[in-house]
Amino acid sequence: MKFETPAGANPIDRGKVVGRPLDRIDGKLKTTGTAPYAYERHDVIPNQAYGHVVGAAIAKGRIVAIDLAEAKAAPGVLAIVTAGNAGKLGKGQMNTARLIAGPEVEHYHQAVALVVAETFEQARAAAHLVRVDYARTKGAFDLAAAKDAATMPKGDEDSLVGDFAGAFAAAPVQLDAEYRTPDESHAMMEPHASIAAWEGDRLTLWTSNQMINWGKGDVARNLGIAPENVRLDSPYIGGGFGGKLFVRADAVLAALGAKAAGRPVKVALARPMMANNTTHRPATIQRIRIGATKDGRITAIGHESWSGDLPGGGPETAVQQTRLLYAGANRMTRLRLAVLDLPEANAMRAPGEAPGLMALEVAIDEMAEKLGMDPIEFRILNDTQVDPEKPERPFSQRQLVACLRQGAERFGWSRRNATPGAVRDGRWLVGMGVAAGFRNNLLQKSAARVRLETDGRVTVETDMTDIGTGTYTIIAQTAAEMMGVDIGRVVVKLGDSDFPVSAGSGGQWGANNATAGVYAACVKLREAVAQKLGFNADADFADGRVTSGNRSVPLADAARDGPIAAEDLIEYGDLHRKYQQSTFASHFVEVGVDRFTGETRVRRMLAVCAAGRILNPKSARSQVIGAMTMGVGAALMEELAVDKRFGFFVNHDLAGYEVPVHADIPHQEVIFLDEVDPISSPMKAKGVGELGLCGVGAAIANAIYNATGVRVRDYPVTLDKLI
Ligand code: MOS
Repeated sequence: MKFETPAGANPIDRGKVVGRPLDRIDGKLKTTGTAPYAYERHDVIPNQAYGHVVGAAIAKGRIVAIDLAEAKAAPGVLAIVTAGNAGKLGKGQMNTARLIAGPEVEHYHQAVALVVAETFEQARAAAHLVRVDYARTKGAFDLAAAKDAATMPKGDEDSLVGDFAGAFAAAPVQLDAEYRTPDESHAMMEPHASIAAWEGDRLTLWTSNQMINWGKGDVARNLGIAPENVRLDSPYIGGGFGGKLFVRADAVLAALGAKAAGRPVKVALARPMMANNTTHRPATIQRIRIGATKDGRITAIGHESWSGDLPGGGPETAVQQTRLLYAGANRMTRLRLAVLDLPEANAMRAPGEAPGLMALEVAIDEMAEKLGMDPIEFRILNDTQVDPEKPERPFSQRQLVACLRQGAERFGWSRRNATPGAVRDGRWLVGMGVAAGFRNNLLQKSAARVRLETDGRVTVETDMTDIGTGTYTIIAQTAAEMMGVDIGRVVVKLGDSDFPVSAGSGGQWGANNATAGVYAACVKLREAVAQKLGFNADADFADGRVTSGNRSVPLADAARDGPIAAEDLIEYGDLHRKYQQSTFASHFVEVGVDRFTGETRVRRMLAVCAAGRILNPKSARSQVIGAMTMGVGAALMEELAVDKRFGFFVNHDLAGYEVPVHADIPHQEVIFLDEVDPISSPMKAKGVGELGLCGVGAAIANAIYNATGVRVRDYPVTLDKLI
C-alpha cells in the first residue's frame, strides 16, 4: 500500500484498542523471566557448545603470531577460530571495522579468536591460553588533539543559509560558546549473544538484533555466503539502544565456530568486552554561535560539531536539530570528522539530536539570560512552522509551543527564581531548568503478514523486533482494531527473518512504521474476508463479527474452510521531501545541588511530548521515562573514560560505567499532547522512544545553573566541575 496523504478516517480512529493504556501482551513472560533471550535458547537445538571471544590487547597494529597450542590442548576444547583459519571473510555494510582482527588490528578488543569448548568455563579458561604477539603502532585517541585535522564527512555537507558570519558580527547580542559531550556506551542489560547452527549450507542464528534484515545481509557479507542461506531469529531482546542495529562479532564468530566444531555454538560477549568490542556514541566538541536583536529575535545561528571515528566511519550528526528547531535568516551548520583509532563509533539512542541538544539547548538558555528574557519566551518567540532552511517545506505538525506552555503550567515554572543561586532548601541549592526536545520522525517501508485462523484468532508475522519497547503490544492492538477482535485473540510473531521485512527497531521509527505495515496487511485481509463471506468492501469489522447492512456473521466463519492470509507493505514514496516530519517535547527539571559537596540530585522531571497518535499511553510512557532516566545518566554520570596512551575505554563494565539507578530518579511525569498526524501514516502516529531523551541533559544542566550560578559546558556535570 502506498500511503496517500492526508490519511482519511480509518478503523484505527475508533480507538477501541489502539490508544488504550493496555498491559504488554508479553509482560508476563518478561516479568517472570521466562521470555527466552538469545543465549538462553537451550531448546531450539541440542548439543550446543560454548564459544569465548578473545579481544585484541592493542588498539592499533598487527598480529605478529598467534600460538594456539596450549589452548588447543586444554580440557574440553573443540575448535579455535582466528582470521588465519576462518577462510575468506568479508565485511558487513554496517561495519566500519572488520569484526575479526588479523593480521591488522583496528581497535582495542577487536576479536582475534573464538575458543569453542564443551562448557563455558572450559572455553573461558582456554581463551586465556591463546598467546598473541602484537606489533603496536601509534594511534590517535584524543578528539581535542585530532580536531584541527578533521574534515567534512562524505555525505554530510555544510549547510549555509544567508550570511551567517556577517549577521553574527552585526548582532547586538551574541553568544559564542563551546560544549563537550563524552563517549557513551549503550550499556543495555542483555549483552550481544548468538547461537549458530549449520544445516548443510544453511545457517541459523538465534541472536539479539534490532534490524533483522540488515543483520541477515551483513552476516552473509561477513561470511561470504548467500543471504538466502541465512536465517536470523530474535524474538526477545534485552535492550539495544542502537548497539544492536548491526551484526557484531558474537554472531559471525558463532557461525564460524559452529562450522569449525561441527556442532551448534553459542557466544555471548562478556560484559568487559562490550565497551571496546562493539560500538559506542562518540564524544563531541561543539561550538555554537547565536546572534539576536535586543528584543530576542535570532538573526544568526551557527553550530559546528567535531567527532571522531575509525577510518571510513561516520560523524555524530549533532547539528541536525539546529537546522530545524528555531527561526533565523542566517544559518551555518557543519560537521567535522576526525580519524580516531578508538573502537567503532556509531548510533546510540537519538544519535545526533541527543548530544546536539545537550549543547544547543544550553546555548539557548545562555542566550535568553543575556537577553534578560525568560528561556521559554525566547524559544517561543523564535518558533518556526516551516523548515527554516527551506521555507517552502512545512512541518507535518509542530506543537513545540504547546509543549512549552503546558509544561510551564504543569511544572509551576512561574515559581522559578530567574536569579541563579537564589533558592535554598537547607543545604541544597535548588533550581529549575527547561529545554526543548526534538527528534525526527523517519518514514520506512514495512511489511507484515496477517492470517485469520480457523478458530477466529488473528496471527501477525513480521521481522519487526521488540527491544523492550512494547512492539508486541502495539502490533496486537493494531491487528485487533483492524479485524474487530479482542486483543487476546491476536497472536504476534516477531523477529524471524523468514517473516516479511519490516522497518525494524531504529531511529524511533519502529512504532509508526511497523504498525502501519500491519495496518496495510489487515486492509488486505479485510478485503479477502469480505469477499469470502460475500460482503461489500465497506463491511464493518467489530466485536468479532463482520457486518454490512442488516447482515452480520462471526468473523471466524470466513476461515471455516481454512486460514485466510494476506501480506502487504506500507511505503511512502517521496513524502519525506514534501513535509518535515518531527516530534517535539519540552523537558522540565528541578534539581538540588549540595552547597558543600556539589552533589546534584534530580528532584522532579516532566516531559510534555507531541508525537502524533500515542498508540499505547502506557508503553509510550515507559519509553519516555526510560529515556528521561538515560538523560539523567548523560547529564550527570555517563562517560567512557579514554586511555589516551593505549587507546581504549577504561571503565568497560557496569561498575565503572555509571548509569542512574532507581534511587537517582525520584519523580517523573509524562504528558502526551492529544494530537494525531494524518501525514505520518495511516496510524497517524510517530515515535517517542528517542524523543524522551532529547533535551533532558540540557534541562538538567540549565537547572544546575539556575541552582548554583555555575555554567558547566562539559558533560557529565560531575561534582568536581561545580566546586
Ligand atoms: Mo536507534 S540509535 O536508531 O537504535
